[in-house]
Amino acid sequence: MPNHKTVQDYIRTIVDFPHEGIMFRDVTTLFADPRGLRLAVDQMLHPYAGTRIDKVIGLEARGFILGGAIAHQLSVGFVPIRKKSKLPGATISEAYTLEYGEAVVEIHDDAIQAGEKILLVDDLLATGGTAEAGIKLVERLGGEIVGCAFVIDLPDLGGRARLEKMGMDVHALCA
Ligand code: PRP
Ligand code: HPA
Repeated sequence: MPNHKTVQDYIRTIVDFPHEGIMFRDVTTLFADPRGLRLAVDQMLHPYAGTRIDKVIGLEARGFILGGAIAHQLSVGFVPIRKKSKLPGATISEAYTLEYGEAVVEIHDDAIQAGEKILLVDDLLATGGTAEAGIKLVERLGGEIVGCAFVIDLPDLGGRARLEKMGMDVHALCA
């Protein structure tokens, strides 16, 4: 029988994780399925067919899984943006606001050359705070973001509007 499952069909929702009232979108079930992972990678790349991409940037932690697979598919390099104090070399940092408090993300300061075309990848776009900080890091190193690719966009949380206001091309596979 043909398999007509969509990317969305492979994602499960966990109720009350990590706090009561949160409906957590769990992509581990998408990643664990060979067809699901392939489908997500292919669909995330589809809008960028014919676009020059020199490097893929992945946001910790689930953006590493997708970003690594996408970089491999494109035969380009992968660069991680990590939470504070995880990268061993010289870094630049950006702070962003969380529901309670602040977080910091970092990139190696020699990870991108000026003028390189960058695809930014993560599993989920919520408020857009993480992606915005990642975009700022890439742009501070002189990289040019050609697109921001997500599996899930939670539009009620405003992330897409926030990134589009920065002039970003935003694509997500499901809401
Ligand atoms: C989640 C998700 C995105 C970010 C989206 O990661 O994977 O990276 O939050 O939220 P935002 O659009 O409101 O910034 P999380 O910070 O939970 O980190 P983890 O992947 O390391 O668990
Ligand atoms: N799933 C995974 N990460 C998240 C979510 C979610 O539902 N909301 C905010 N970050």
